[in-house]
Amino acid sequence: MNLKRLLMVGLILMAFTATSVLAMEGGNSRKGKHLFKKSCKSCHNAGDEGGEVTPMSKTMAQWDRYFKKKAKKHPGSVMKDLSKKDLKDINQFLFDKAADSPSPETCG
Ligand code: HEC
Repeated sequence: MNLKRLLMVGLILMAFTATSVLAMEGGNSRKGKHLFKKSCKSCHNAGDEGGEVTPMSKTMAQWDRYFKKKAKKHPGSVMKDLSKKDLKDINQFLFDKAADSPSPETCG
């Protein structure tokens, strides 16, 4: 096998592992957006009791930390009522549109 061929194989393998890792970890951002509007925005528009929360309220790292640690302490039962998968999708949407993401969104 010549060097060029070896490099190609290496690149393909790398691309393959990168996408499979993403697919494993990632929630569905499109579903997450829908769920966020349905389950979160009722209390999180400007002037609501929870205060305004949009994807841009936090950075990507902050959103991941929020869902890993703090979401359990969120007031009320909303975080317990949603399934793990729903929360993952919402986490993914907020992460994808976070303040420091490539495509920040306010989702008003
Ligand atoms: C029943 C009303 C209600 C619903 C529904 C609700 N929240 Fe909240 N949320 C609150 C309240 C009240 C607080 C506390 C606000 C405070 O401490 O000032 C809060 C706080 C937060 C905070 C912390 C804000 C900060 O500055 O760190 C985040 C983030 C948050 N909610 C996200 C969500 C997400 C995501 C959902 C949907 C899965 C959701 N909330 C659904 C009422 C709600």
